Amino acid sequence: MDMRLESLIFYQIYVNSFCDSNGDGIGDIKGVLSKIDYLKALGINAVWLTPFYKSPGKDNGYDISDYYSLNVDMGTTSDIETLIKSLHKNGIFVIVDLVANHTSTAHPWFENSRQKKGKYKDYYFWYKTPPNDWKSVFGGSAWAYDEVRNEYYLHSFATEQADVNWDNENVRKEFEKVVDFWLKKGADGFRCDVLDMIAKDFEEGKNGNGEHLHAYIKGLFHRKGVKCFTVGECWSADINLAKDLTHPSKNALTTLFSFWHLCLEKGRFAKGKPTLYQMLSRLSTWQTQTLKEGLTPTVFFENHDLPRSVSRFCDDKKYRYESATLLGAMLLTHYGIPFLFQGEEIGLTNSWHDTIDGYPDVESVGFYFSKKTKLLKGERLKRIYFGGRDNGRRMMPWTEKKQKSWLAPYDRQREINVKKDADSQKSVFRFYQALVSLRKQEKCLTQGAYVCTRMTKNAYVFTRESDGEKITVACAFEKGATLPEIEGEIILSNYEKTGSRFQPYQVVLYKQIL
Ligand code: GLC
Ligand code: CA
Repeated sequence: MDMRLESLIFYQIYVNSFCDSNGDGIGDIKGVLSKIDYLKALGINAVWLTPFYKSPGKDNGYDISDYYSLNVDMGTTSDIETLIKSLHKNGIFVIVDLVANHTSTAHPWFENSRQKKGKYKDYYFWYKTPPNDWKSVFGGSAWAYDEVRNEYYLHSFATEQADVNWDNENVRKEFEKVVDFWLKKGADGFRCDVLDMIAKDFEEGKNGNGEHLHAYIKGLFHRKGVKCFTVGECWSADINLAKDLTHPSKNALTTLFSFWHLCLEKGRFAKGKPTLYQMLSRLSTWQTQTLKEGLTPTVFFENHDLPRSVSRFCDDKKYRYESATLLGAMLLTHYGIPFLFQGEEIGLTNSWHDTIDGYPDVESVGFYFSKKTKLLKGERLKRIYFGGRDNGRRMMPWTEKKQKSWLAPYDRQREINVKKDADSQKSVFRFYQALVSLRKQEKCLTQGAYVCTRMTKNAYVFTRESDGEKITVACAFEKGATLPEIEGEIILSNYEKTGSRFQPYQVVLYKQIL
């Protein structure tokens, strides 16, 4: 199989909610297996599977209590082996989630650590009194008191997710074993959860990005006999960190997720929506910077921690098709590795629910109750609707029939689902198929130089060029725009009529032989 970076097109599968094979309301590995034809039809050639490991489920599987076995709801070891083999047979690479910053407090390491047993004593960060005032990402103090040990431990996320101590060599060895285990099972690499947080610096007051970050990552992935694809989730990444961790000469990661283009508000539940212009301007700057430094960036707008991009940046009602296809074109024509998130290829939107029961994510619930005296209920729900993580986590709507589900189903399932999209004249999925096959055919889309030729409040135009061929991608934002004439033959558009006057969310691709 062709694992050259430029040929990769990833699809993120949120396993809990992709496909439920046994009707218990939880997506599972066998469900993924049953949808390989769907993935092939879309044309992607790599998948990222979110955690399927044993977990008490306090943070939907990101609180792992055993790195070597599957959660009973997800399937068995033999199911995952079969899935990896079948994906490979179909030309699809597989990366799995590696959660290395923390374990569940139900993990035996933690149990042993709280009892100060042997080598486990210092597997976590223990203090008689909290040494600083770090906050948990999910709200409140990042320090929790443990009665058994009579000390405080660090948890950067939920109380049940204890941060492990990477300064301890034994901990580093444990994760080497985890990496080796999954590579042996056939995984082609890892998506590394909040990876920039594994190296702390207590003296500098930094809960992440500490001075040993590069060394720890290099130590984990650049050992004899280990060769794999790695993408680090790094919320703090700027171009310097990206250079340090992903330049090929640094022997650390293949690529990383930078969130700079997506962190546009003051926090997840801030008031107001960012604009498409704001997001794409940053994406464009990131493209130029990473290319200049010789790095391979990722390109993505959604994942299981983000709201749906159509609702967030565009118009999810009147222009939903146009919005979804424009975003799809942005994903698949830029420089770097595209990561599609399940449901994006049919233009899923955020989902409205009248009570907090519709948004059970730990982060949303935390916000809802902590703001009780400051914001009216309606306002809190509205903020959660716009920014909450459950938007990306609802069961994939394969048909209009709502299945039993662990999470309240998508509110627009009757109107927006895989079947209906396929039957529609205006199919988002078919537009994605066209984009994916273009990306596979046109060398300039994967290897060509990137030049932004226009970025205004109303429109964005850029070119990709290599070996005497040039593709120009032009799009208008919500108001439409009049653009100067662009040379070349039109090869794809999300409107039937094209001309110099661009309609709202219109995108047009032109090809020119130079
Ligand atoms: C990452 C995951 C997110 C999780 C957090 C803690 O950001 O993507 O879902 O809550 O890490 O593991
Ligand atoms: Ca199931």
